[in-house]
This record gives sequence, structure tokens and C-alpha cells, in this order.
Amino acid sequence: MIPPMGNDPIALVQDWLDEARALAGEPHAMTLATATRDGRPSARIVLLRSFDERGLVFFTNRTSRKGEELRENPRAAAVIHWWELGRQVRAEGAVEEVSTEESSEYWATRPRGSRIAAWASPQSRALADRDELEGLVAEVAERFGDGDVPLPHFWGGYRLVPEVVELWTHRDDRLHDRIRYVREGDGWRGERLAP
Ligand SMILES: Cc1cc2nc3c(=O)[nH]c(=O)nc-3n(C[C@H](O)[C@H](O)[C@H](O)COP(=O)(O)O)c2cc1C
Repeated sequence: MIPPMGNDPIALVQDWLDEARALAGEPHAMTLATATRDGRPSARIVLLRSFDERGLVFFTNRTSRKGEELRENPRAAAVIHWWELGRQVRAEGAVEEVSTEESSEYWATRPRGSRIAAWASPQSRALADRDELEGLVAEVAERFGDGDVPLPHFWGGYRLVPEVVELWTHRDDRLHDRIRYVREGDGWRGERLAP
């Protein structure tokens, strides 16, 4: 059961994330839905890199399809499901770019190969073939040589600032437990939803 309503959903989700890190195969895989200005949706998985009272942070190429959609329509919905725990979390809200400092801090933790890949891959663009991608990677590797691979200007983090957070737990009788928390002023109002 989800703890009594009126609690802070952020702390609850942080507890769930801690348990998922111990038990789930990929605890940070989060489906992120964005949409064009005229409301045509698209969804993909990204890794949830941090979750606190400020929001949900993920990193990506800002010229990707999701980046373009967020530029024209800076709102998103996200969902994480942990099969092993029988739990789901949903969040909806506005999306903002994180600061360059925050992106740099995360960038510094990425292995060199991932940094080169981020520079080389024109994420979401059509490629002639795999060779084209490998050529781009070779060019970037040569350009940086043994030197530092800096944060690309087109790459960084986004923070989904949730207005709504829903916690869901599985029940064998299909009478699953759902609590939706809606942001109200500085706090949250919880309400139980029919499963
Ligand atoms: C488990 C998993 C984790 C992923 N994590 C990220 C991520 O953190 N950032 C990212 O840009 N793409 C990530 N991807 C790739 C995206 O799903 C997607 O293919 C890519 O971001 C391009 O999406 P777009 O064309 O809609 O922008 C991940 C894919 C999987 C399956």
C-alpha cells in the first residue's frame, strides 16, 4: 500500500527509487513523452539522472527530436515502471533546461567513449548508413586526440518540474492502489484514484 495521503510524493518516490536500485534491472529507465506545438506526441526512454523537490532530470542532445519538441512545447509527461516492485510513477509538468554548471558536472562523470559519441551523433537525424556514423565518430576522436572532450554546446540536461505525480502499486486482485498528488502552493494535495 502507498503510505497515507498528504505525504510529500517526492520523498515517497525517492524511497521507491532507493528500493528499485537494489532490486530492479534498470531502475532509472523512464519513458518520456513530449509533443509538437500542435500536440502530436512522441515517446522514448531516457535515464532519470536525479529526482528531488526541484524535479526529474535527464540528459540528451538538444537538437534531437525530443529537444526540438521541448523547444516548441516545453511540457512533458514521464513514467517509470519497476516490474520487480510492482510499482509505477507518473509525472507531468513544465520542462526547463538545467544550468550549464549542472550539465558540466554530469558530463564530467561520463566515460570518454560516451562523450565522443555525444559529439559525433547527430541524434534523431537520418543517416545514409552505419559507416556514416562511424566516420563521424572517427572525425571527433581525431579532433580531440588525447585532449579533453568538452561539453558540447548542443547537449545538456532538462528538468521536468512536476505539477502532478502519481504513485501506483500493483495488487493481484487488479484493485491496484493509485494516489495522485497535485501541486498546491508550496505543498501537495493527494487524492485516491480508481484503478
Ligand atoms: C534504457 C535506455 C536508456 C536511454 N537513455 C537515454 C538518455 O538518457 N538520453 C538520451 O538522449 N537517449 C537515451 N536513450 C535513447 C532514446 O530512447 C532515444 O532513442 C534517443 O534519445 C532519441 O530520441 P528522439 O529521437 O525522440 O529525440 C535511451 C534508450 C534506452 C533503451
